[in-house]
Amino acid sequence: MVFLAFAILYGHSARAEEPIRIRFSHVVAEGTPKGQAALAFKREAEKRLGTKVRVEVYPNGTLFSDADEMAALLGGKVEILAPSLSKFEPYTKKLRVFDLPFLFDGVRAIDRFQNGPAGLALLGAMTDRGIRGLAFLHNGMKQMIATRPLRRPENLRGLAVRLQDSDVIEAQFRALGANPVRLDFARVGEAVEKGAVEAQENTWSNIASQGFHKRQRHVTETNHAPLEYLMVTSTRFWDSLPALVRLNLEVVLTKITLDNADLAAELNDQDRRRIQKDGAEIIRLSQGELALWRQAMEPVWRRFEPEIGKDLIDAALAANTR
Ligand code: LMR
Repeated sequence: MVFLAFAILYGHSARAEEPIRIRFSHVVAEGTPKGQAALAFKREAEKRLGTKVRVEVYPNGTLFSDADEMAALLGGKVEILAPSLSKFEPYTKKLRVFDLPFLFDGVRAIDRFQNGPAGLALLGAMTDRGIRGLAFLHNGMKQMIATRPLRRPENLRGLAVRLQDSDVIEAQFRALGANPVRLDFARVGEAVEKGAVEAQENTWSNIASQGFHKRQRHVTETNHAPLEYLMVTSTRFWDSLPALVRLNLEVVLTKITLDNADLAAELNDQDRRRIQKDGAEIIRLSQGELALWRQAMEPVWRRFEPEIGKDLIDAALAANTR
């Protein structure tokens, strides 16, 4: 009886000691930069916070896919996601800056931009929609890949090209005369297999980890835009956390972001070699050839500048030259 009264009285605080469950869902393989960052987040968070948190990582879209993950986050069915920045278009137009072709010189410039005032402010771009940006993560620069060699921009004309769900990327491929096909990442493998898409853009890491190069045998090294991620949570979940847990998670986020930068570069280099070793053709472009791709794709900037903001585009450009 005494025990029962105790249990009723203290039942609430006993429950409060249950670990806080943090489900982290993403759509790529574990051996990719994002897959590794998710595992590092789990390892470091549980190391720092002991039994206060339990992090469950769900890779390869096993919990949610591109199409339903944001609704799941806002509905409290998952606590952390790291979608590519292209997938936030319904929530903010600002992150479109990362999709503008040939805006950033490379990942170092992106680092400078993300760590400067304009980049850091982007973490809060979706708080009014209940989404809190926690940290940017790199994958790497995107390359073109196709069933036939793409040396010049006009080689894409008339090809069915898979793309992420993004107006900017669609405009980019329309500028090249291709037929854009928007597809969730989880469905790309099957579309490539069936020949329903003849070309696409992605990083060395995503190409190799999905084996796209085994069907689409020609990769053109364009490095035309980055594939970047934003780790996000819901403001509701984040604000519900005890302050000490939040503080520790912030330390973890800083650490994994720093580690991810080197690891992402390493994994992409490694996967570039793997693609070459598997016998796919890697087409390196001369400066002159690259200039043709740039010329064909750059008009996309003007179209999206009013929504993104000239100030943000200028800040991104300034990060190239420091
Ligand atoms: C894609 O859809 O190609 C990428 O955004 C997948 C990812 O998360 O890297």
